[in-house]
Amino acid sequence: MPVQPTLRLAADPDGIARAAELLRDGRLVAFPTETVYGLGGDATNGQAVAGIYAAKGRPSFNPLIAHVASAEAARRHVHWSETAERLATAFWPGPLTLVLPLRANHGISELVTAGLDTLAVRVPAHPTARTLLATLDRPVAAPSANPSGRISPTTADHVLAGLDGRIAAVLDAGPCGVGVESTIVGLSGTPILLRPGGLPTEEIEALLGQPLARHQQGDNISAPGQLLSHYAPQSTVRLNARAPSDGEVFLGFGPMDCDENLSPSGNLTEAAANLFAALHRLDTTGKPIAIAPIPERGLGLAINDRLRRAAAPRDP
Ligand code: TXA
Ligand code: MG
Repeated sequence: MPVQPTLRLAADPDGIARAAELLRDGRLVAFPTETVYGLGGDATNGQAVAGIYAAKGRPSFNPLIAHVASAEAARRHVHWSETAERLATAFWPGPLTLVLPLRANHGISELVTAGLDTLAVRVPAHPTARTLLATLDRPVAAPSANPSGRISPTTADHVLAGLDGRIAAVLDAGPCGVGVESTIVGLSGTPILLRPGGLPTEEIEALLGQPLARHQQGDNISAPGQLLSHYAPQSTVRLNARAPSDGEVFLGFGPMDCDENLSPSGNLTEAAANLFAALHRLDTTGKPIAIAPIPERGLGLAINDRLRRAAAPRDP
């Protein structure tokens, strides 16, 4: 079968209308969110969702996030709670995903939840995503728009580099502002941090007035990113490097000599926004990558989580 090249659509009213039409037809469209580009498919259409797994080459046990236009839309699919209401009021639209029990007649394809009885829902803040979701008025399943296990995309070029010919279109709205995926909080029981991300954990804990529960190593709870190796460049990655060794390229943070700097001033928000693009660029050198230490606070939690996975041993 001849491969159809992926359309690059402008993020203007015509482009967004075309993207909504394609999604309604069960086709796959990558779209910008404030965190990273998502690989979208109609979450109510099993064939479309199966296509997402196929395009990414993703193991089917890893469930997907359903993106919706508003908290009201989310409530059509999940059992809402007082804590959900507080978090949604404070942080939606924005880089926060809530995992909640599915309602009866939720309408979501089982391929989205990978058979779990909970659903991850999120209301993204990016204006293009918001217009797209409002136009479509359906939940859109969207993992990050990269081949499974590889570096997440923060530009349309990154999306095309990994998925050209495998998806119908990409809506191009330039680079994403936040740069790391959403923070995921499980609300089926005691609120638990399932993945650190673009909303600092400290802000959530301040609102709730209590610390979030955390996973213990070896927990059997179905957690995001169970696959340790993830976000991986082609080259090897060495963390907490004070300086590069022979032959390495050096990714810095704060004032220092390096090939790329996540934030010369040591700003973690700026570093998160630059993270994946810097990894994509250093990866094209073909050299091993050494990375300076990043403080473990604020968005540093999400950055270090992604970097540990990028450095983890890979399957052969
Ligand atoms: O910022 C983001 O969250 C981006 C953009 C596109 O919105 N999306 C994203 O999706 O990062 P993805 O598929 O790469 O990551 C979703 C994570 C997975 O690690 C998955 O394990 C977890 O969410 N997840 C989804 N449903 C879940 C559930 N019911 N229970 C626990 N974890 C769940
Ligand atoms: Mg991903």
